[in-house]
Amino acid sequence: MADDRVTAASGSVLREHLAGQLGSDPDAPDVLARWDRWGPDLLAGLAEVYPQPGVGERVVELIAAGNAARSPRLRDRDRDRILSPDWFQRPDAIGYAAYADRFADTLNGVSERVGYLRDLGITYLHLMPLLAPRPGDNDGGYAVMDYRRVRPDLGTMDDLADLATTLHDAGISLTLDLVLNHVATEHAWASAARAGDPKYRDYFLVYPDRREPDAYEASLPEVFPNFAPGNFTWNDDLRGWVWTTFNEWQWDLNWANPDVLCEFIGIILELANRGVDCLRLDAIAFVWKRLGTDCQNQPEVHAITQVLRAAARIAAPSVVFKAEAIVAPRQLVAYLGRGTHAGRVSDLAYHNSLMVQIWSALAAQDARLMAVALSRVPDIPTTTAWGTYLRCHDDIGWAIDDQDCAEIGWNGWAHRSFLSDFYTGSHPASFAQGAAFQQNAVTGDRRVSGTAASLVGLGRAGNAEQRQTAIDRLMLAYAMVFGFGGIPLLYMGDELALRNDDDYHLVAEHADDNRWMHRPRMPWDLAEQRHSPDTEVGRTFAGIARLIAVRRSLESLHAAVPTRVHATSNPAVVLFVRRHPSGDLVQAYNVSDSQVSIPAWEIEIHGTGPRIEALSQREMVPVDGRYVLPPYAAWWLTAQGH
Ligand code: GLC
Repeated sequence: MADDRVTAASGSVLREHLAGQLGSDPDAPDVLARWDRWGPDLLAGLAEVYPQPGVGERVVELIAAGNAARSPRLRDRDRDRILSPDWFQRPDAIGYAAYADRFADTLNGVSERVGYLRDLGITYLHLMPLLAPRPGDNDGGYAVMDYRRVRPDLGTMDDLADLATTLHDAGISLTLDLVLNHVATEHAWASAARAGDPKYRDYFLVYPDRREPDAYEASLPEVFPNFAPGNFTWNDDLRGWVWTTFNEWQWDLNWANPDVLCEFIGIILELANRGVDCLRLDAIAFVWKRLGTDCQNQPEVHAITQVLRAAARIAAPSVVFKAEAIVAPRQLVAYLGRGTHAGRVSDLAYHNSLMVQIWSALAAQDARLMAVALSRVPDIPTTTAWGTYLRCHDDIGWAIDDQDCAEIGWNGWAHRSFLSDFYTGSHPASFAQGAAFQQNAVTGDRRVSGTAASLVGLGRAGNAEQRQTAIDRLMLAYAMVFGFGGIPLLYMGDELALRNDDDYHLVAEHADDNRWMHRPRMPWDLAEQRHSPDTEVGRTFAGIARLIAVRRSLESLHAAVPTRVHATSNPAVVLFVRRHPSGDLVQAYNVSDSQVSIPAWEIEIHGTGPRIEALSQREMVPVDGRYVLPPYAAWWLTAQGH
């Protein structure tokens, strides 16, 4: 109670401060109305992490400055999105992720390729890190040295704003990465710290000797055990050990310092004012450290996100956040908001578990583990959505739970090891062509690199039939991604069945990091074949285009309702059931290369009526009381035709 009174009192003082800062801005009443709506979220987050005096005033000033710099066009966009806050949850929301240079050389080049994206039905484009990174190896741009400048060979901040306008006109929203756990050692803050400025030293986590680092290391995992062992790096200038979760040239920020918070509110609003619609909070799980833990998913992470989210909502309400938290499913849901944070943190989060379970089911030709694991993921707030995906720019880590495995009589460690063998192609039953990424000597874990097409077997397929089987596998996997609910994120090149880039190591900075194997350049000449149904590219493209078209027509795929995942009496068949007032949708998937059948009632208990399969527009009729599913069948069963 006492706390509430303090918050309310400081809220009204800050409101007055905001009103003063807004001055005669024509939208001042709107901004103040948004303060009334979301200010309490902001204050609650601040109270949890930044009780220091004066932080609220600074945040309010940043909000007012962000609003002042917002263009009339973006203010209109804000008003539109306030009226349709579910834009990213709708069935017509379709995502695409690409490196700007690999897709089209420059930001202006991307503008010229917008027609390709529009034809495909894309409404959301994630351009991989494009803010100025450190020179040389920079973790694919995730070591940023200047957040207010675009990588020079890609263009300028003005080009970014122009691209955002072009995309908006084409009905496409723009997502950029916000790397907030760390900066490059070349960032001005890090340089100032090295030069001895105590203000900037306090932007980082620096320890004079090994005492504290050793204490933390006792419970810290290693993200890159091969190329960056340990979590601390000695720096001569600082005369200390600096926290470096990822590479030694990525310095973790001290998020307990309110100056860091304020810097990032400024950066967020600047990007928002360039027309960015969604910020992908990179490695957000790591931003808060606590001794004796793995320093991930700490409660403060969500309070900090709540502050950032509320500030953006007040100054630039059309912007949403996407959490990149590659963590256990039980931890993951908190990024979309649990308890007091429900609906107040990120709007989107990657569904890492769905991705892993798809690959696991395809390798094992068994979907029981998927049903167990996905049924355990708690529901998410109805105003949020998953980002569903099959591949991204990162490796695949086998986030498979020992308990889930035990439930179906499997050993977790053995299954993870099987998956690594399978997808690196060393298992005798493997169809895949991937490579091992980072081997952890302690746990034996090996992650996997490779494009979707190479991992489903297109590279190894010897004849036309095997190639078609591989495409069917890819389509089944993508049907799950497009059918689960939430925004499906197509990874550049998957629509053309692009294989691994075996020459990735020819670029010196990429040679040690085989994730570049699945970050190929867009082969625009090959893309020409996309409308030729007699080619592999054409068949794949048509399959993806069909998934997109059908998805758009099914209101039941709106993210506000959850997907229930059910095992069936056949281990290879799994059901995704979506109950929606517009009509239920029952998806049936056969993850094996054999024809299988299940009793009709196993589908029928999820609803009655004629069963039209929406992807093929065929009526599915049981034979002798059983539904017969061909190899890799992916059925989206609806009550009416669409
Ligand atoms: C995220 C990125 C990954 C990067 C890491 C560190 O996980 O997806 O590519 O290495 O953050 O920034």
